[in-house]
Amino acid sequence: MAKIKTRYVCQSCGQSFPKWQGQCSGCEEWNTLAQEVEQPSARRVPNALSGSISIIQTLDEVAIERAARWQTGVDIFDELIGGGLVPGGITLIGGEPGVGKSTFMLQLISRLGVNIKPLAYVSGEESATQIKLRAERLRVGNGSDIILVAEQNLDSALNGLASYLPRMLVVDSIQTVYTPQMDATPGSVTQIRECAAILTKYGKDRGLPVFIVGHVTKEGAIAGPKILEHIVDTVLYFEGDVNSNFRLLRVFKNRYGATGEVAVFQMTDKGLSPVINPSDLFISRKRSDAPGVVVVPLLQGTRCILTEVQALVTQSFLPMPRRVVAGLDSNRLSLVIAVLEKHAGLKFYNRDVFANVAGGLKLTEPGGDLGLAMAMVSSLNDQAMPPDILPIGEVTLAGEIRPVTQISRRIAEGRRFGFKRFVVSGSCDLPEEKGIIKVSSLREAVKSVFA
Ligand code: TYD
Ligand code: MG
Repeated sequence: MAKIKTRYVCQSCGQSFPKWQGQCSGCEEWNTLAQEVEQPSARRVPNALSGSISIIQTLDEVAIERAARWQTGVDIFDELIGGGLVPGGITLIGGEPGVGKSTFMLQLISRLGVNIKPLAYVSGEESATQIKLRAERLRVGNGSDIILVAEQNLDSALNGLASYLPRMLVVDSIQTVYTPQMDATPGSVTQIRECAAILTKYGKDRGLPVFIVGHVTKEGAIAGPKILEHIVDTVLYFEGDVNSNFRLLRVFKNRYGATGEVAVFQMTDKGLSPVINPSDLFISRKRSDAPGVVVVPLLQGTRCILTEVQALVTQSFLPMPRRVVAGLDSNRLSLVIAVLEKHAGLKFYNRDVFANVAGGLKLTEPGGDLGLAMAMVSSLNDQAMPPDILPIGEVTLAGEIRPVTQISRRIAEGRRFGFKRFVVSGSCDLPEEKGIIKVSSLREAVKSVFA
């Protein structure tokens, strides 16, 4: 009898090792190796190519089939993915548990089902009753066009669906389904990869859009959709604090459109509802004139969203003053503080600084630096930011203000929300006009705003 060979596969990055070890030397995660049975690899025909012949053509000869895209009826979603669903396109929807992936998928198939039917929803996670209850809450009207398969065995599910000829397939989630062709537990790297390969083939062969739902944890420790990113055509991630109502659906990869784009949704008691003007959401409340609050235009893909950055600067009684952030990088905060100390003559060494971005958005681009600096200065001086000023700029280590991308778009969004003055970099490519305040250094910016 042949001995069963096993190996240890990192459940985070997929690298395999012959022996167990505490830390994966591939991705440096701890305790992520799990034992899996090694699948016999296909045997190679020695010294010869096999008999099949591929189709060869020149670039000019390639005929383009412009597949008509399917409109889902959720306009901001169609726009996000480049103009609608592509038949045969495989999409991964990732996100933390509870962020709203199942809710979104159910809403999407119910909207799409108006024109395209039937649609299949394979759930390895929830029972048919649970899905039905959710559908009732979401007021899904066309229940007879949605085929439910509450099943973890993917082979059985797909066999069962054969006679129904679904036009679209959702699998929720990739971590809970398995194929009996593989001797590994559901959720292991081997199963995830194999199931994804089966689903990809299923979708491509039949020209169906397939949605694969995948859980990601904050730490990314559990066998992640990360390992699927290169298999699928489109990768979307749901972001947003589970405790806040806002959800951002972000495009990480798209073979059929642009990446980096976001669509904003709001979680309501009737599911996720699209937010057409996200800036409304993040700054709509009557703007407070409290010190430490500054609005900044954040760029998300080609979209510009106005959001509030809040800072609280208080006297510190600790030998190491606290620097606490939410929604932004603490290194960036430290950098901006250091520049304020060195180049604007402000003292933070005996102050605790708390900084926060409203609504669960993340300040990841340098265009928010100047706003962050202004928020801190405003709190430090206990002087509110003038309500009509929008600061836009990157802060350099030398204390200069650097221009940022898409400045006109940011200003346009600001104007739409009633901002009249814009503090921008002196070297940015903008005509001298009323309301444009050009500054070259952070010191100058502070002076022009808090004079
Ligand atoms: P869910 O879609 O199950 O998240 P995921 O599939 O990503 O794990 O549910 C997300 C949360 O949304 C859940 O805590 C309940 C809440 N929710 C609403 O607030 N309103 C609704 O209409 C629904 C269906 C869910
Ligand atoms: Mg779910």
